[in-house]
Amino acid sequence: MPLDIAPFQARRARLLATMQAAGGGVAIIPTAPERFRNRDTTHPYRFDSYFYYLTAFREPEAVLVLVAGAAPRSILFCRTKDMEREIWDGYRFGPDAAREAFGFDEARPIAELDEQLGTLLANQPAIFHSVGYEPEWDRRVADALNRVRAQARTGCHAPGQIRDVRSLIDEMRLVKDVAEIATLRRAAAISAGAHRRAMRTARPGVHEYEVEAELIHEFRRHGSQAPAYSSIVASGPNACVLHYVENDRRMQDGDLLLIDAGCELDGYASDITRSFPVSGRFSGPQKAVYELVLAAQAAAIAEIRPGASWDAGHAAATRVLAQGFIDLGLLSGSLDAAIESGSYRQFYMHRTGHWLGLDVHDAGEYKVAGEWRTLVPGNVLTVEPGAYIRPAAGVPEAFWNIGIRIEDDALVTASGCDIITHATPKSVADIEAIMAER
Ligand code: GLY
Ligand code: MN
Ligand code: MN
Repeated sequence: MPLDIAPFQARRARLLATMQAAGGGVAIIPTAPERFRNRDTTHPYRFDSYFYYLTAFREPEAVLVLVAGAAPRSILFCRTKDMEREIWDGYRFGPDAAREAFGFDEARPIAELDEQLGTLLANQPAIFHSVGYEPEWDRRVADALNRVRAQARTGCHAPGQIRDVRSLIDEMRLVKDVAEIATLRRAAAISAGAHRRAMRTARPGVHEYEVEAELIHEFRRHGSQAPAYSSIVASGPNACVLHYVENDRRMQDGDLLLIDAGCELDGYASDITRSFPVSGRFSGPQKAVYELVLAAQAAAIAEIRPGASWDAGHAAATRVLAQGFIDLGLLSGSLDAAIESGSYRQFYMHRTGHWLGLDVHDAGEYKVAGEWRTLVPGNVLTVEPGAYIRPAAGVPEAFWNIGIRIEDDALVTASGCDIITHATPKSVADIEAIMAER
């Protein structure tokens, strides 16, 4: 599919307008550096999400400079053409082709950046920069500022403020545009297919990594570039380890398998968890806890609509879970006492969701001026209640090592929400039915 650069240009224009409304200045937004994995071999390259959101440009060694003002400008600094390097590493746009393909006003060689900043920053009121995230860039921006200060005798003045550009972009990234929603939907559909494939693969005697391989196979064969995060394929007691990533255990009859896995597609993440019995049939205690987590998720999803508090879903899920833990004999006392004391946290110790987008735990504050944010159409969030029951004194043995999380991705719509991961089997009946196909 040819790249549609219009949404990226529109985002640059919006950020420039926001900068101008804030008093004007110049933004400096670098992409991510390449990182060595061992001696001379790099990790698979992943661009910086802020940079990509504004450029669609995927090469390393690139910086976007935005100059706000009466005649706003976007300038890309990138690698030059280099036939020798292109023979080894592949195609590079070079400034001219990049300007044309991605719609920048100007493009220049990355080697000119430091010198050019001296000119671009002169007589500007502010530098917009990702303050404090990369020491290397804090130093380079400070050096650029000092170069302008050194020219003071020529009559120019240096920016008086350094402002955080990410907080401005975060507000934009919280509300997904049409292009982002389309990509998130495609990523969700690929990941749903991967979970279906995993349900058809898992059985006693199979290793967790064999299921992980099926997930990766399904991601890649549909064009996803990589998993959005390390896949969790956690059977038996491992399901109660929240960030388990070894994925090397051999699954046994009677185990539950918790899979938290989602692909990244064109920069956008999906994030799905399903928990199901390796045997293909839930045991009584497994089913009881599963139905409880499912009810908690339904309660949270029912709270997702424009105007609702970010925290409403978590509060609803927590009440359902806490009451369920009491009913199952895992906790004693009243619901209010369990909520008040936080005793339910023995079995549910994380929150019910997070923003989702270019980053799996996406950009954007959850509170504004100390109050939970209210949802608006275009927000995308996960809904992921769970129950993790480790062996412990006072915990009925029938529930030991049951670890369940059910996670879907929700788009806030005008009237409620749309579960974009809906193609992932979720009811007990649907899971048992797909596993019966093995
Ligand atoms: N997979 C990361 C999360 O669920 O937050
Ligand atoms: Mn999540
Ligand atoms: Mn997840």
